[in-house]
Amino acid sequence: MRVLLTGHQGYLGTVMAPVLAAAGHEVVGLDAGLFADCVLGPPPADPPGHQVDLRDVTAEHVAGVDAVIHLAALSNDPLGSLAPDLTYDINHHASVRLARLARDAGVRRFLYASTCSVYGAAGGDGLVGEEAPLRPVTPYAESKVRVEDDLHALADGDFSPVFMRNATAFGYSPRLRADIVLNNLVGHALLSGEVRVLSDGTPWRPLAHAADIARAFAAALTAPREAVHDRAFNIGSEINNVTVAEIAEQVAEAVPGSQVVTTGENGADPRSYRVDFSRFRTAVPGFDCEWTVKQGALELADAYRKHGLTREDFERRFTRLAVLRAASDAGTVDDTLRRRR
Ligand SMILES: NC(=O)c1ccc[n+]([C@@H]2O[C@H](COP(=O)([O-])OP(=O)(O)OC[C@H]3O[C@@H](n4cnc5c(N)ncnc54)[C@H](O)[C@@H]3O)[C@@H](O)[C@H]2O)c1
Repeated sequence: MRVLLTGHQGYLGTVMAPVLAAAGHEVVGLDAGLFADCVLGPPPADPPGHQVDLRDVTAEHVAGVDAVIHLAALSNDPLGSLAPDLTYDINHHASVRLARLARDAGVRRFLYASTCSVYGAAGGDGLVGEEAPLRPVTPYAESKVRVEDDLHALADGDFSPVFMRNATAFGYSPRLRADIVLNNLVGHALLSGEVRVLSDGTPWRPLAHAADIARAFAAALTAPREAVHDRAFNIGSEINNVTVAEIAEQVAEAVPGSQVVTTGENGADPRSYRVDFSRFRTAVPGFDCEWTVKQGALELADAYRKHGLTREDFERRFTRLAVLRAASDAGTVDDTLRRRR
């Protein structure tokens, strides 16, 4: 298939592009390149791509494409809270526009990167399935719910949106993110000897390795239409349904000499969800996640040591919010986060 991969220069996209290419697909990227230089280790070999803002996509970008994998977004809860209006412009309106253009161009499958954050304050220790009520607690998660609703309305006999509700990702990607929980805690452990838990540690936070998420998208791309058409899927594995306190313990074990410090300074985090991932395994037989949290913590610690992660990079280069603030201060993006030429 010829696959348009938006967000190909992000954390997940940089891992997903080679997985798709290895499966025999022709990958074309599309990204504004906001984090293209945020690389830890050898520079990745990106597929050919369009450097364009999602809000400026035209019919030309989707012409001749068989499927779209749509990752590009302001990609986490704190970012969304920084600028809720921009989050809705980029994550919601521009995503729906892209989907309409794709449908009009005859694209048959549209895999949308949603999130388990849509369950928000699900609470409790029971497993949350795809039919559970959606309780987003941030503009980021709300934007994902709105896209799912609007894409569902576009589904028809030729156009199949698929809603991939990913667990929080972890693991090494050349375009590292240090602002997601496992990657963050491993970095702190190595740089300071402390595994700092800012909440009270009790929230459930399902995790999935970036490579497993990439394999799930690759599997959804070629699954029979009737198995995935207009359906939502939780992407991850029950073995990685962990509390923040358990994640911290795994990190302390993976980084010798580090100790868990629970500061609780952020108070109780309302986001807590323990997730049932069985629907995707049933719909796409043969798929399962391969990585555990412990293996991911060891992989990250190795990568951080090998590539010489510094505190400066950890806090600035690999933290999405800090990168955008710095770009705004430097004038390389305007106040709508459009890159200036
Ligand atoms: N990483 C996770 O834990 C996680 C979990 C669930 C869902 N997701 C979703 O997966 C997708 C990818 O996440 P990620 O971790 O790779 O994030 P990321 O921030 O590393 O990558 C996002 C990419 O989108 C691009 N982008 C942002 N705004 C754009 C715009 N206006 N025009 C064009 N490109 C733009 C950025 O340049 C970046 O390359 C996102 O939609 C995110 O919401 C991520």
